[in-house]
Amino acid sequence: MSTNKDFISIKALEDGVNVIGLTRGSNTKFHHSEKLDKGEVMIAQFTDHTSAVKIRGKASILTSNGEIESDSKK
Ligand code: TRP
Repeated sequence: MSTNKDFISIKALEDGVNVIGLTRGSNTKFHHSEKLDKGEVMIAQFTDHTSAVKIRGKASILTSNGEIESDSKK
């Protein structure tokens, strides 16, 4: 199980930030989408089901590899 692994933290810096989970395995596709409004935080792990996360919108993302900011389109 993967419940003792590192967490990633995503803080929305605008309304309507999307956090999209992509499946692990040979077939990579969306399996989960979460919408965050400004100031909301999501704390998540990579699991047996989730190998990648796509973030749309302006957010601050903290991982064990460092901190990065995504930007909004406009
Ligand atoms: N049920 C999903 C899983 O265990 C939930 C999940 C884990 C998730 N990490 C995520 C959803 C990151 C979105 C983003 O894989």
